[in-house]
Amino acid sequence: DITKIRSRWVLDSRSNPTVETEVYTLAGGFGRAIVPSGASTGSHEALELRDGSREFHGRGVLKAVENVNTVIAREIIGMDSRRQEDIDKKMLDIDGTPNKSRLGANAILSVSLAVAHAASSTYGVPLYFYLGGMQAYLLPVPLMNIINGGKHAGNELKIQEFMIVPVGAKTFREALKMGSETYNSLRKILKEKYGSSAINVGDEGGFAPPMKNTREALDALIAAIKDSGYSPGKDIALALDAAASEFYDDKRNVYYLDGKEYSRENLINYYKELVQEYPIVSIEDPLHEEDFEGFAIATQELKIQIVGDDLFVTNVKRISKGIASRAANALLLKVNQIGTLTESLNAARLVTMNNYSLIISHRSGESEDVTISHIAVALNAGQIKTGAPARGERTAKYNELLRIEEELGSRATYPGIGIFKHYKL
Ligand code: PGA
Ligand code: ZN
Repeated sequence: DITKIRSRWVLDSRSNPTVETEVYTLAGGFGRAIVPSGASTGSHEALELRDGSREFHGRGVLKAVENVNTVIAREIIGMDSRRQEDIDKKMLDIDGTPNKSRLGANAILSVSLAVAHAASSTYGVPLYFYLGGMQAYLLPVPLMNIINGGKHAGNELKIQEFMIVPVGAKTFREALKMGSETYNSLRKILKEKYGSSAINVGDEGGFAPPMKNTREALDALIAAIKDSGYSPGKDIALALDAAASEFYDDKRNVYYLDGKEYSRENLINYYKELVQEYPIVSIEDPLHEEDFEGFAIATQELKIQIVGDDLFVTNVKRISKGIASRAANALLLKVNQIGTLTESLNAARLVTMNNYSLIISHRSGESEDVTISHIAVALNAGQIKTGAPARGERTAKYNELLRIEEELGSRATYPGIGIFKHYKL
C-alpha cells in the first residue's frame, strides 16, 4: 500500500520549473517521476497547470505541487500501488474535467508515473519488466534529432526536426554509436561551412545552424552520414518532424515554408519530391493539427511512415477519428499530452490493434527522468524519439536503453528498417 506521497518543483532543461513526485509503499517500494514539458504543443493536449504569478515568469507549478501533496495524496494514500488503473481513474474522478485542468495534467502524470515506479520497485524488478514482463524484448530504433529548427531553435528553419535513423545497426548500442559519430561529423561540417556559431545547439540537443531551407539541412545530414563512413539510406535513414501547425496560416489556409507559400496540395507534392531525393522513412505532422483529411491524403500518397503528434495528442478520441479516416499510420506517444499512464497504454493498444506504428517520445523540455525508455521496451514499440545523442536530459534516455539492452541479454532484439512497416519506397 502507498504510505506517503511527496511532490516538489524541480527544473527542466529549459530552466522552467516542473513537477517531481515521489511515492513510497509499505513494502519498502519507492518511485519517483519528473514531468516533461513541450514548446510546440498541440492545442488539444491535456492542460499543464502553471501558476501565472510573477514568479518564474508565470511558469511556476506550485499549485500543481500543492494539488499532489493535498487533494491527490489524501485519496491515493492507502491504495495498492499495483492498481495503476484504479489510481489513475481516481485522479480523473477528482479532477472531473475533460482536459485535466482542475488538478493539472502535470500534477496527475507525476503521480501516475511515480506510482508505476513504486510498484516495480516493490516487486524488485525494472519498470520495463513490471509493465511488459517476459514479452518485452524489443529495443527501439532511435529517431535522433540532430538539426533543430522551428520553435526549438533561434534559426530560420521552419521544419522543426531533422532526424537520423540508424536502420542498419544490429543492436541498440551500435545504433547509438552510429548516431554519435554522425552527430560529431555534422558538428565538424557545420563549423567548416557556416562558422563556429553554427554548432550552437537547440532545445533537443541538435545543432541550430543559420540555414534557411529544408534541402540545405537534409544535405548536411547526408554529408555527415557519409563523413562517418556510413551509407545514407542503407545504414542511416532520415526522418522529419515538420510540426506544420507552427507554419500554417489558418486565415489564408496556406503554409509558409522555405520562403514560399504552399497550399495543402503543393506542400504534399513538396514532401513527395523530398522523399524521392532523400532516404526519408518518416514524416511527423506534415500538415496542421486539424487536417485529418489532409493527413489521409499524405499517408496514401507518400507511402512512408506518417506520424500524428499534434494531430492525435495521445488521445484515444482523436486517434479513433484518425483510424476511421485513415489519417497517418503511426502515433507519437507523449505521456504528458494525455496525463496518465493508463490512458497512454490504452492509446498504444488502440494503434497497435489497428496496424499503426508506435513511437515513444520525449518533450523538448525534459529532465533526467528515464521512464520513456522503459515504456518503449515494455510496449515493444520499436521506435523512440528522444532528441540528439547529446545533452544530459537526452542521453539519460539513450544510456538507460544501453543498460536495458545489456540486461535483456540474448533476448534483446533491435528491429532496424523492418519496424518501418509503412515505408513502401
Ligand atoms: P515539443 O516538440 O515537445 O516542443 O511539443 C516535440 C515534437 O513536436 O515532437
Ligand atoms: Zn512533433
